[in-house]
Amino acid sequence: MALLIKNGEIVTPDARYVADIYCEDEQITRIDRNLPAPPGTVVVDAGGKYVFPGFIDPHVHIYLPFMGTFAKDTYETASRAALVGGTTTLIEMCCPARTDEALASFELWLGRAAGKSACDFSFHMGVSRFDERTEAELREIVQRGIASFKVFLAYKGAFGVTDTELYRTLKLARELGVIVTAHCENETLVAERQRELIAAGRTDPGQHHESRPPRVEAEGVHHLMSFAELTGAATYIVHLSCQEALDEALAARRRGVRVAVETLIQYLLLDKTYAERPDFEGAKYVMSPPLRDARNQAVLWNGLRDGLIQTVATDHAPFDFQRQKPMGRDDFTKIPNGIPSLEERINLLYTYGVKAGRIDLPTMVDIASTRVAKLFGLFPRKGSIQPGADADLVVFDPDHRGSISARTQHMNVDYSAFEGWPIEGRPSVVTVRGQVAAHGGRFVGTPGRGQLLRRTPGHF
Ligand code: URP
Ligand code: ZN
Ligand code: ZN
Repeated sequence: MALLIKNGEIVTPDARYVADIYCEDEQITRIDRNLPAPPGTVVVDAGGKYVFPGFIDPHVHIYLPFMGTFAKDTYETASRAALVGGTTTLIEMCCPARTDEALASFELWLGRAAGKSACDFSFHMGVSRFDERTEAELREIVQRGIASFKVFLAYKGAFGVTDTELYRTLKLARELGVIVTAHCENETLVAERQRELIAAGRTDPGQHHESRPPRVEAEGVHHLMSFAELTGAATYIVHLSCQEALDEALAARRRGVRVAVETLIQYLLLDKTYAERPDFEGAKYVMSPPLRDARNQAVLWNGLRDGLIQTVATDHAPFDFQRQKPMGRDDFTKIPNGIPSLEERINLLYTYGVKAGRIDLPTMVDIASTRVAKLFGLFPRKGSIQPGADADLVVFDPDHRGSISARTQHMNVDYSAFEGWPIEGRPSVVTVRGQVAAHGGRFVGTPGRGQLLRRTPGHF
């Protein structure tokens, strides 16, 4: 069925103009003024609203066996939440344990998404061990359209790779032209500091950031940058949280290292005092790298505005406050790490970024859609509004007023880190390949319609 979006202000990183968008066979086919609506066309009046390319979250966890439990969402719940919030494509971290095989893990993660997701999706292929078999399987996985790897320089004994494995992974990535995404923290420093804090009886959630101070993250970035420099691989630092880590990435970039930087909506808006809240409430805010001193927020916003930081993701990793976070009630090192935010990224970016004057609207589109599509080999099919692109569109109502609450969210988790926060504006209509999937905060899409996207190595 054809779709016509009329009179909206189209916003991309390099243009703003009012026009109609006509979509047929899942794609945008025409953009012009006063386009007619043939009989049977679904017409959306976007007068007074913005029209954005569908947003892409480049870092989510949906199926995640982690720290003795599992993240709460499924593809049914996560894609629903994503779409209501304006995110039309998910790139999930496929996170095999060290003992798992790469191809079998890829199939496992794919099986969780295919036939269930209402939005399109892809994966960063986690490399938690590197040997001959892994190498052969990674080659096959790239052939199947997965154009990025993921390595953890943290989580000793679980996902973390050795330096030899890191070097070989980056060399393979360089040969295949795929980008390597990396969680950067020095795992030895984390383990030692955790041991010292617990031994000193400092067990509450507020100790989490003491165990992983900014230098721990900066050291992880420095380490990755040395390996990237010597292998020539393209790298992407996930969830960068602080000035010290950014300085390391920028120093490497000045030396010619190919590095892109992602930050998270959590680091832009929350600070470490949230994790220090009494009565274990702080556990809601435990993630890694941890929430930082508030002074870092301006550094991150300015980095986005000035193009030093390329993307904003969520690292969505939902664990219930009532039944999962308490695994670490007597020992903060056992609190499942993660702060859910998949549903709220765009509303928060708009309210506290654009409306607050920290970034402009085209920058918001770039960091949450277009740049992501370019880095990860999805552009121009995703992240653009032009004939031939997928008709993934977000009609955004800037006049909406509301607030965030766990009671009304679609994410399958029992709390919101942003409970009660006011929002100004939200998606009013969200489409996936030409079909309306969310309307006025309600999911109206089709579970299982989402497709695995075949990606080619991106532009760096
Ligand atoms: O605390 C976090 N970030 N949880 C999810 C796993 C990861 O490190 O990305
Ligand atoms: Zn991580
Ligand atoms: Zn993550």
